[in-house]
Amino acid sequence: MNTPIPLQQLPQKNIFRPGDVFVLFGELFGRGYANGLVNSARQAGMKIVGITVGRREANNALRPLNEEELATAEQNLGGKIINIPLMAGFDLDAPAGTPNPTEMLGSLTLKSWNEDKLDWDHIAKCQEVGVQRFKDSLAEVMKVLGGMIEPGHNVFFAHTMAGGIPKAKVFLAIANRVYKGRGDRFMSSQTLLDSDLGKLILKNFDEVSANTFEHLIEASAAIRSGMESSGGQVRYTAYGYHGTSILIGDEYVWQTYTNYTQGLAKMRLERIAQAAWSKNIKATVYNCPEIRTNSSDIFAGVELPLIPLLNALKQENGGDWAESQWQACRSLLTDEVTLEDILRKVLDFQTHSTMLPFRDFAAWPMPNSQPQADLTIGTSDEIQKAHKDSKVLITDLLSALVIEATGPLMFHETSDPAGPVLWLNHDIIARQLNTIHI
Ligand SMILES: NC(=O)c1ccc[n+]([C@@H]2O[C@H](COP(=O)([O-])OP(=O)(O)OC[C@H]3O[C@@H](n4cnc5c(N)ncnc54)[C@H](O)[C@@H]3O)[C@@H](O)[C@H]2O)c1
Repeated sequence: MNTPIPLQQLPQKNIFRPGDVFVLFGELFGRGYANGLVNSARQAGMKIVGITVGRREANNALRPLNEEELATAEQNLGGKIINIPLMAGFDLDAPAGTPNPTEMLGSLTLKSWNEDKLDWDHIAKCQEVGVQRFKDSLAEVMKVLGGMIEPGHNVFFAHTMAGGIPKAKVFLAIANRVYKGRGDRFMSSQTLLDSDLGKLILKNFDEVSANTFEHLIEASAAIRSGMESSGGQVRYTAYGYHGTSILIGDEYVWQTYTNYTQGLAKMRLERIAQAAWSKNIKATVYNCPEIRTNSSDIFAGVELPLIPLLNALKQENGGDWAESQWQACRSLLTDEVTLEDILRKVLDFQTHSTMLPFRDFAAWPMPNSQPQADLTIGTSDEIQKAHKDSKVLITDLLSALVIEATGPLMFHETSDPAGPVLWLNHDIIARQLNTIHI
């Protein structure tokens, strides 16, 4: 990708009807992006099917959901869950009787991790075991799924998987500093990426956040040809991240959260969609705005670009409804601070000389720097403190709005997608919201 390709028109088409099947490829969490698509699929009357990543026993063995967990998950999704564990990544996989990567990291210490070397031949074997486990389980999932779809119907596969941070003590401490550290606690993300530890983590991100999309497309080949030969169509979507255009002053400008080490996996995800597209498979990665979810909470400051969505709502003629969102946000702030103060603070942050070099699309994803981390995390912290309740934030309200907008945008565009990689910027998000609410 040399330049972002934005979705510019509100998509109108819908090929999905009652009896068609929507498959969520990842678990559904309360604040997760996938809620938008699931709601649109439900509104279209589609049959909803989910999967599980499974759960780990105390000895790390992977198991399906128990009866109670399954009932809760199915109720939450509003559909049937195929209860075969699809945990991706190889951080806890190894040939029998040998240490897995998380155990290998057990010997690293906070003093020496950036010098410590890993046994890459052994890691390659662990990766092979993990990938094979995932593919074998996925083949089972596809067999079950095949029996749930009537010929001639359309199928919508929505990939939502992202993650891969190994649960090694040493890394959790480092992650806290790389993503949340400032001042004395700052840690350079480049130092992490240059280390063997960092290289291992990038491989695991690739497996979870990117390669699973490729496995999904491959493993559903029989379903795809079966549906296509009986008059149905099959679509694939995935959630990407590659920065977002937001209103900075009067103009929509591309910017990004830094540092997003997972960005390399997200670019791989884009390439997987492009490769599928070149084989006439309709797979689209939608690069979505920064919001606050279970997964993004680790990245301090990721929510800052979300706040100017308030300006976009007005700019795109949101009228009284936009004003009511401003009021709802105002009511969350302490009496000492105005919403205008907060918007000014975010604008100052976005236009600060420290941040400008990070608006370099070609260099994305850039490592952090001490001044950038101090400014990003400091601004995020100050804005959080300006709220009456640090657990009820403007960015919670705005995250829910973005999820609401991405549902119909992705759902309808996917009926006749323009390409394999599309950006959902604040302008189209605001226009979709204004269309829903006015
Ligand atoms: N939150 C953001 O700001 C943002 C922005 C752009 C794109 N996205 C993308 O949206 C998608 C959904 O994320 P979200 O932010 O809504 O958070 P979320 O926590 O709701 O979703 C994360 C998903 O990843 C799955 N997952 C996690 N670890 C896994 C593993 N080891 N194996 C298999 N699946 C695993 C979970 O089951 C869940 O479906 C992700 O691809 C994410 O990268 C998020």
